[in-house]
Amino acid sequence: MHILILGGGGREHALAWKISQSKSCTALFIAPGNAGTSAFGKNIQLDPTDFVAIGKACLENKISLVLVGPEEPLVKGIVDYFVNDRSLSHIPVIGPNASAARLEGSKAFSKQFMLKHGIPTAKYKEFDTDHFSEGSEYVKTHSLPVVLKADGLAAGKGVIICQSHIEAMAEFELMLQQDKFGEAGHRIVVEEFLDGIELSVFVLTDGDHYVLLPEAKDYKKIGEGDKGPNTGGMGAVSPVPFADSEFMLKVKERIIDPTIKGLKSDGIEYRGFIFIGLIKVGIEPMVIEYNCRLGDPETEVIIPRLKNDLVDLLKAVADKKLNEKTIQIDSLAAATMVAVSRGYPGSYEKGFVIKGLDEKYEDSLVFHSGTQLDNGQVLTNGGRVLCVTSYAGSLQDAIRKSMTVLTHIDFDGMYFRRDIGYEFL
Ligand code: AMP
Ligand code: GLY
Repeated sequence: MHILILGGGGREHALAWKISQSKSCTALFIAPGNAGTSAFGKNIQLDPTDFVAIGKACLENKISLVLVGPEEPLVKGIVDYFVNDRSLSHIPVIGPNASAARLEGSKAFSKQFMLKHGIPTAKYKEFDTDHFSEGSEYVKTHSLPVVLKADGLAAGKGVIICQSHIEAMAEFELMLQQDKFGEAGHRIVVEEFLDGIELSVFVLTDGDHYVLLPEAKDYKKIGEGDKGPNTGGMGAVSPVPFADSEFMLKVKERIIDPTIKGLKSDGIEYRGFIFIGLIKVGIEPMVIEYNCRLGDPETEVIIPRLKNDLVDLLKAVADKKLNEKTIQIDSLAAATMVAVSRGYPGSYEKGFVIKGLDEKYEDSLVFHSGTQLDNGQVLTNGGRVLCVTSYAGSLQDAIRKSMTVLTHIDFDGMYFRRDIGYEFL
């Protein structure tokens, strides 16, 4: 099979690494990919949201399966585009269609969905530009902290946790009346703050059946001790010690099963990954958000622990035969640490040479996020530059190995958090 992966981050590098090992994969393409993915397939310089160009590339390269990494092409309807184009409709695109991707693409939709199906989540109300004054009054008297969420996609920046009413009302106005997030912020979900520890759960579904992938915990803040601004993710660990069988049974019964059944009973055909952002409040799981894709950097720890042939699983999604598959997970622990550019998540420079990539590391994998090849040299090309995933019998050893590898890698302004997994050590 010729397979195309859309996206160009660490998640896609990890997927390319895994898919290239499949006996069914005879040629692999990544659009746009990065310096790391080029070791496993051919990078095609295309924007994953340029559906016309992606469709053409699929025909030219005889692609028979497309795996979508990021959310944007899904929310914008790449699946629908392929289904409705006669020359492309035979190519399965793994990921939900636009209607199903609203689970991530619209916070208001996902909250309504959870409310309707009795899935535990924070209490909320939604307001649009026509209900500004009503919303403003609501925010003014809401318990603190109060969480404001732009309804649409806002590049991971659309959630604001406000510690005071003054801040909350200012943010509310910035979003609804001053276009802080453009169209995405013209509807806002206002919800109560949940206090607890977060967990990322990953489900792969064919619409009728599902399999559960390894869980992970990511570290979103830039600073050690979870301080400072949010990033795309500074590291991740899997497994997550508190996600024991008792807790995961609650997740299954109260969250995953009702989600899959709810989608079906609402007439929403969902095929692909569902990433459920959970929080453990006391001893109970609650949903913070749904995403319609895998997480980054979570993928870089869950995919290395997955023993199954990934293409085999993706084909089963396309054929609606996921009930015939059993997931096999490596009992080893995996940890990944992300090296970022100086200044990230604010502004940063690119184009610095990355040293130390030629060495081979036992039990460790280097996945590229923002890198590019230039005359045979690998240069930084993003805020998150690369991550190092290691496996070991214990989380502690996995973390130690990644840290050691990172002492051999260097680029100007490189920074990484040394405390990934700290709560579990
Ligand atoms: P998102 O951009 O939707 O991934 O949300 C970003 C982060 O905001 C989440 O990972 C949580 O850490 C936090 N968050 C979102 N909603 C809540 C909430 N209701 N209570 C506490 N934290 C939240
Ligand atoms: N690591 C969080 C995300 O991918 O959204």
